[in-house]
Amino acid sequence: MSSEITSPAIIYSGAGSFSKTVSEAARLGTSAAVVLGQHLQDTEVIAGLLDNLHTHDMKAVICDPITTEPTVEMVDSLAGTIKRMGVDVVIAVGGGSVMDTAKAAAVMAVNDGLTEDYQLKRREIVNPPQAQVFVPTTAGTGSEATRVSVLTNERAGVKRSISHPLMTPNAVILDPQLTVSLSKYLTTLTAMDAFAHAIESAVSRNATSYTRHIALAGIEQLSAGLPACQSSPDDLNARLMCLEGSCFAGLAMQSGLGASHSLAPAVCIVTGIRHSEAVAALLPHAIRLNESHSHGTYDLVSRAMDCSDVASRLEELCRLGGFNVNLAQFGLCASDWKKVCEVMNRYGSHRKTNPVEVTDAYAEEIFLAAVS
Ligand SMILES: [Fe+2]
Repeated sequence: MSSEITSPAIIYSGAGSFSKTVSEAARLGTSAAVVLGQHLQDTEVIAGLLDNLHTHDMKAVICDPITTEPTVEMVDSLAGTIKRMGVDVVIAVGGGSVMDTAKAAAVMAVNDGLTEDYQLKRREIVNPPQAQVFVPTTAGTGSEATRVSVLTNERAGVKRSISHPLMTPNAVILDPQLTVSLSKYLTTLTAMDAFAHAIESAVSRNATSYTRHIALAGIEQLSAGLPACQSSPDDLNARLMCLEGSCFAGLAMQSGLGASHSLAPAVCIVTGIRHSEAVAALLPHAIRLNESHSHGTYDLVSRAMDCSDVASRLEELCRLGGFNVNLAQFGLCASDWKKVCEVMNRYGSHRKTNPVEVTDAYAEEIFLAAVS
């Protein structure tokens, strides 16, 4: 099987690497839109970034902070700002929502029509996006490494991506100093999303030797990094391991994911919970069911995690991070399956790349285990 992987042209990794953000932006253009999460608004980090941009003679505009998971309307609005300001570089500093919004807006700013046209009607992206410099402040979605932006369309009731190889960010900065303030709960949940990307791509039916090796490297980094972050939140090496693990996972997941990601978007639409919460609650159950159908599927994963039972180890890490691994805590019960299934069938990705095809009945089994 052949594979096609895109990746950022340059990745800086290490404590203090945030300082590279401006030189990379200056290499790529002359004016920048800075897209960030609310927690970074009015902080010294951003004030320093702006000063540095001005020192490099770059014009800069700070956009309204991203406060929710991205929608097509948010992307249209941000793309309008980028177009109006005549910006040629988009700097995103934040978590997955910030990066996905910025990535989609960078391409929509130079392509006609609405984001929804590209999301639902599969209109073709013809113009390459504005240059992008991405600085993740969570170790979770891996969006900094991918060509994909996952967007909610509330009117249509779906969560669906837009993607293009040229949407892959040009430069990525992995600076662990930007993740130390993340709570133990969010550190754990975001790492669970990254774990899911790495584990599901390691066993994906479309995995190649190339993507599997990247995925296993991600699993090793996350397995070592997450427990160390949980016990010592200021440990920069542990934080960096999680950031690198998440970035590896982002690269590897281009080979397709599995059942937890088939179901999670539907659970999120029905309940409004975070993507990472849904994934963390579904992943161990998906692993157990896959393993029961196809014994040995997770042998390489368990070796990379240095544990004998992958699902139980993930549950233990969740508990250590204060997350209870079930969906019942979010008000879901067995009778909600019909609603979740209906939404899943409108979105339904990664169903054929799971080790066992995710039929409705297969997904129901995972859902019922997760709400019990
Ligand atoms: Fe995910």
